[in-house]
Amino acid sequence: MTARSRRTGPDSSDTATGLRHVFRNVPQPVAVVSSLTPSGGPVGMTVSSFTSVSLQPPLVLFCPAVRSQAWAAARRCGVFAINVLGRQDAELALRFAGSGDRFEGVRTHPTYHGIPVLAEAISVLICDVGDEHPAGDHTVVLARVRAIHEQYDDAGLDTVSLRAGAGRPHRDLGVRLRAGWHS
Ligand SMILES: Cc1cc2nc3c(=O)[nH]c(=O)nc-3n(C[C@H](O)[C@H](O)[C@H](O)COP(=O)(O)O)c2cc1C
Repeated sequence: MTARSRRTGPDSSDTATGLRHVFRNVPQPVAVVSSLTPSGGPVGMTVSSFTSVSLQPPLVLFCPAVRSQAWAAARRCGVFAINVLGRQDAELALRFAGSGDRFEGVRTHPTYHGIPVLAEAISVLICDVGDEHPAGDHTVVLARVRAIHEQYDDAGLDTVSLRAGAGRPHRDLGVRLRAGWHS
């Protein structure tokens, strides 16, 4: 244990803060989950809790917050896209975690069932909503991959480089990630 060490117990109110600090330094992928509202409008949210689970059958997972409005819409739709962001897509990552019209000025292509896919994504998975498992203030969503679009052979954006100002070397984006997500 060094002078920078901290210790928090499982019931400590510091535990959430401790977890945020730990995950500030753990690179995770950055993707945008996109889908459609019942009225056919686009919805999307930035996620980093995205990972591969199974190849046969092809399953991935991600964890939306229980209160996520974008996920509520995607669940109703039943189909959604996971747009994997590249190193140059820091602005998109922050936009899809912020307020305002997230799709304004963003180039998209309609895919399966009209699900909007981000033109800048380096790869896209079209998924069916599968099993959901409650997990505290989030939900573990298992999704079955229906189609894969590999758009660009490029390196993915990760949360650590996003924090450091990805795509803009030596310059911090000056935007703190939202509470709960490595802020
Ligand atoms: C890099 C990054 C990763 C994020 N990962 C997740 C995530 O995995 N799950 C989640 O619920 N929110 C995540 N968020 C926060 C959501 O993008 C944010 O809360 C969003 O505003 C939710 O919008 P909604 O209520 O419209 O669904 C992340 C934000 C950023 C910037």
